[in-house]
Amino acid sequence: MISEKMNAAFNKQIKDEMYSSNLYLSMVAYFERIGLKGFANWMRIQVQEENAHAMGLFDYLISRDGCISIEAIDKPETNWASPLDCFEAVYKHEQLVTSLINGLIDVAEQEKDRAAISFLQWYLKEQVEEEANCSEICSRLRFVGEDKHALLLIDQELGARTYVAPTIA
Ligand code: FEO
Repeated sequence: MISEKMNAAFNKQIKDEMYSSNLYLSMVAYFERIGLKGFANWMRIQVQEENAHAMGLFDYLISRDGCISIEAIDKPETNWASPLDCFEAVYKHEQLVTSLINGLIDVAEQEKDRAAISFLQWYLKEQVEEEANCSEICSRLRFVGEDKHALLLIDQELGARTYVAPTIA
């Protein structure tokens, strides 16, 4: 059993995670367009992670006998001025997601839903990692500046990222 308010908050977060997935898919297209296949690969994995985040919430809601409602997703941006501009947008977006997860936990606390509070701890920790990863890539992109050779080395490194399905407790 889950309260109506908590149920609605979970449905909204499912939508927000799916928006994240679409935003990053749009970034895959951007990086493919400018020929940075490694960045595109990194972003493709980000898409898979966001889908997993959405499905984790979806399955949790089912396990609590909640009511799933799939909401319309806003159209994401389609273009960025540079890889740095794009990663700064990722960092900003992940900071927004962190605030959304905090908001979800606030609702869980108001509703005295201890199971939801416990479940959402995984998402909270994941956000620390997400923010750290993109902040680090932003710093490196700022450091290399206009150096295309260095940019290609970063591209090569990001191309090695592989997807590991998360175990969402
Ligand atoms: Fe699902 Fe990147 O937060």
